[in-house]
Amino acid sequence: MGRTRVTLLRGDGIGPEIAAATIQVLDAAGAQLEFDEALAGVRAVEELRDPLPQVTIDSITKNRLALKGPLSTPVGQGFRSVNVALRQHFDLYANVRPIQNYPGVPSRYQGIDLVLVRENTEDIYAGIEHYVGPGRSAAESIAIITRHGSERIVRYALELARREQRKRVTLVHKANILKYSNGLFLDVGREVAKEFPDLAFDDLIVDAAAMKLVTAPERFDVIVTTNLFGDILSDLCAGLIGGLGLAPGANLGREVAIFEAVHGTAPDIAGKGLANPSALVLAAALLLDQVGQGDVARRVRTALRSALASEEARTADLGGRGDLQTFTDAIRRAL
Ligand SMILES: NC(=O)c1ccc[n+]([C@@H]2O[C@H](COP(=O)([O-])OP(=O)(O)OC[C@H]3O[C@@H](n4cnc5c(N)ncnc54)[C@H](O)[C@@H]3O)[C@@H](O)[C@H]2O)c1
Repeated sequence: MGRTRVTLLRGDGIGPEIAAATIQVLDAAGAQLEFDEALAGVRAVEELRDPLPQVTIDSITKNRLALKGPLSTPVGQGFRSVNVALRQHFDLYANVRPIQNYPGVPSRYQGIDLVLVRENTEDIYAGIEHYVGPGRSAAESIAIITRHGSERIVRYALELARREQRKRVTLVHKANILKYSNGLFLDVGREVAKEFPDLAFDDLIVDAAAMKLVTAPERFDVIVTTNLFGDILSDLCAGLIGGLGLAPGANLGREVAIFEAVHGTAPDIAGKGLANPSALVLAAALLLDQVGQGDVARRVRTALRSALASEEARTADLGGRGDLQTFTDAIRRAL
C-alpha cells in the first residue's frame, strides 16, 4: 500500500512536543503516512508574518488531510483564530469528538461512551462582530444559523449514529430564548430525524443538557449541537472522562479533513516535557480510520490503552507519575 500524504501542523505551546511523540507512535505502529510540514499560528507569524500562510492552505488543499497540534489565539485582540479560519476556509462543517473512559484512568465517572458532533462553521463563530456606537460603549456578535448548515450537521450525526450502531441522538439547543436561530436548528433537526426511524431522537435545552451531563452522563449516546454550545460542552465531556488530555477531534468537510486534539496549547506546561500526547495520538488514529488504515488505528488505540492503564507511565494530568517521554515509550513498547 502506498503512503498517504498528510499536512502536519505541529502547532504552538505543547504542540511540537505532542506532535513529535505522536509521530514516534505512528512510526512504531507501522502507519503508512508521509508528512508535509507546514506552519500556522505563532511560529508562522514569526517566520512568515502570517498566522495562516497561503503555502499552508495550498498544502492542505493538495493533501486533503491534516494532523494539527493546538494553535494559540490571542484573547480580545490580535489575529483571528487560525482554527476558525481553517474550518471556514475548507468548510469543515462537522467537528466530531468521541469521549470514552479508558480502563485504569482515574475519572469521576465510568461507562461513558458518547460522541459529540459540533456544527463547526456557523453560529456566533461566523465572525460578524463589531462595536456599536461611539467608542467601545457597546458591541455585537451575530449568530448565523442556516437551514443548510443545520440540515447537514444533524444528518451527519444521524448517519454517524447509524454507522456506529448507536441508539440515540440528542439535539442540544437554546430554542426557548433564541427562538429564531436555535428554533430553526431544532425544527430542521426534527424534520431530518424523521428520515431515521430506527434511531431514538430527542432534544434538550443546553443548560439542562449541561446538568444532565454531570448527573447522568451515561444517558447520552450521540449529541449534536451548534458551534458555541459544542465548544463548551466538549470540554465538559472531556472532564467527565479524566480531562482534556484524552479528547481527540476530527474536523470534517466534503473535501478536506483536519484531525486535532480538543485541548489548547497548555502554555502552563509547554516545553517542560509534561504534556499528555493521548489526544493527538487518538486524533491520528481517527485519521488512520479515515484513510483505510483501520488495523493500524486499532493497534495504536490498544497500545495507548495499555500505557494509560499504567500509573507509572501515564502523565500527571491523569494522576500518573510519568512524563511525556516515559508515556510515549510505554506506548511504543506496547506496540
Ligand atoms: N484546537 C486548538 O488549537 C485550540 C483549542 C483550545 C484552545 N486553544 C488555544 O490554546 C491556548 C490556551 O488555552 P487554554 O489554556 O484555555 O486551554 P488548554 O486546553 O490549553 O489548557 C487548559 C488546561 O488543561 C491542561 N492541558 C491541556 N492539554 C493538556 C495535555 N495534552 N496534557 C496535559 N495537560 C493539558 C493545561 O495544562 C491547562 O491547565 C489559547 O491560546 C487558546 O486559544 C487552541
